[in-house]
Amino acid sequence: MKITTIILAAGKGTRMRSELPKILHEIANRPLLQHVYDTAKHLENNTIKIVVGHGAELVTEALKNLDADWVEQTQQLGTGHAVQQVSDQIADADNVLILYGDVPLLKLETVRLLINNVNDRSLALLTVNLTNPAGYGRIVRNTAGQVVKIVEEKDATEAEKQINEVNTGIMAVQGQQLKKWLSQLSNSNVQGEYYLTDVIEMAVADHITIVTSQPETEDEVLGVNNRIQLSHLERVYQQEQANSLMEQGVTLKDPMRFDQRGSIDSLGQDIEIDINVILEGNNSIGSNVKIGANTHIKNSIIGDNVTLFANCVIEDAVIGQGSRIGPYARLRPESLLAENVHIGNFVEIKKSSVAAGSKINHLSYIGDTTVGAKVNIGAGTITCNYDGVNKFRTIIEDGAFIGSNSQLVAPVIIGKNATIGAGSTITKDSPENQLTLSRAKQISVTGWQRPVKLEK
Ligand code: UD1
Ligand code: CA
Repeated sequence: MKITTIILAAGKGTRMRSELPKILHEIANRPLLQHVYDTAKHLENNTIKIVVGHGAELVTEALKNLDADWVEQTQQLGTGHAVQQVSDQIADADNVLILYGDVPLLKLETVRLLINNVNDRSLALLTVNLTNPAGYGRIVRNTAGQVVKIVEEKDATEAEKQINEVNTGIMAVQGQQLKKWLSQLSNSNVQGEYYLTDVIEMAVADHITIVTSQPETEDEVLGVNNRIQLSHLERVYQQEQANSLMEQGVTLKDPMRFDQRGSIDSLGQDIEIDINVILEGNNSIGSNVKIGANTHIKNSIIGDNVTLFANCVIEDAVIGQGSRIGPYARLRPESLLAENVHIGNFVEIKKSSVAAGSKINHLSYIGDTTVGAKVNIGAGTITCNYDGVNKFRTIIEDGAFIGSNSQLVAPVIIGKNATIGAGSTITKDSPENQLTLSRAKQISVTGWQRPVKLEK
């Protein structure tokens, strides 16, 4: 059975008070509309149509990679009018699934259950019972309990307003039938809109049964209309991801203070994550990894038995097994660390590889550098990789020892097992096994007197 999914996303989102169209606001770094699309994408034999209106250009540009047909609704005359824009693209034999672009947390299982209920004798409707149903369309049932229509809040009688079962807006309808009903919609209601919900009454008149199902939780069908609701759904989403990680054997010191904005490609066992950690993009984390508080990791691969102490910022990096990083370390893109590397506090690494067992423990900048194995880089060492115009590489071979507060002016090679005296500015290649230093000779001045304070 083929499915056409229509995602309604033309609404303005006034209450977001934003220049950005509502559906481009994000949950876990992913636009609301993208969440809905990603869920729909899992359905087999599915064509996705997205109805856009407000900020259509911005939306289609921002999400141009989506495998969907964009349909423009230039005037927002109601949900029924929005679906009418797609009407001529619906095949008679298709089942049509209607989703909202601003309802991001709807689960695939819920959608599958809904779709199972649609055929040429029945229309599938997702409803939910709310303690406070204000603002929603109410589900009106007859004495036999069958759904007979949906009445919008503004058109509802006092008695209908007492109904707690509401329309989520999400439904699945047989294509040919939907097209017929769409052509019969009118806007003679309090809001002067073409209501999609009016198809329910038409279906009933055509002896189609309305089969309702419910989501597991209310949060699944909550829409985003303002930034308070956005933040609520962000936390719901984060809690779900935290639960999933804990189920997979990760210890989270506080799941309320953990954020995953992206995916985890591979996950080891017995990982321990302290508070306020953010995992962004695609990360892989090996077994027995400990991640300290306030650490931000983006698009990185962390090997087994790695310890990241608190307050590290790590991006596009690879950290070999057994390495110890931080506290307060920054690994910038293309930092490739082999196993058992130690990177200490206030060390910045960029576009550099560091071979096994090397240590850069304090206050250093290592950029555009190849560091060999078992190298020790002393406190305050800086690679001067940039002359203001071009960048050059520094090569530090195996076993080298760089004395504290040295500057290595690239391009330069420090040979195998070379020692650089503390405080040196190295501008020429330094031979292996030798001590190289560049430093003014130390002198002591005999008979020198400290200045004394002048009389005023
Ligand atoms: C709609 C339903 C209501 C339901 C509620 C659930 C109708 C008439 N009412 O109400 O029964 O309880 O959703 O949230 O369907 N949209 C367009 N083009 C338009 C109008 C809306 O694309 O012309 C999109 C919006 O961007 C949004 C969705 O449709 O994603 C729902 O629109 P909204 O205005 O929020 O619907 P309500 O009137 O609140
Ligand atoms: Ca709404």
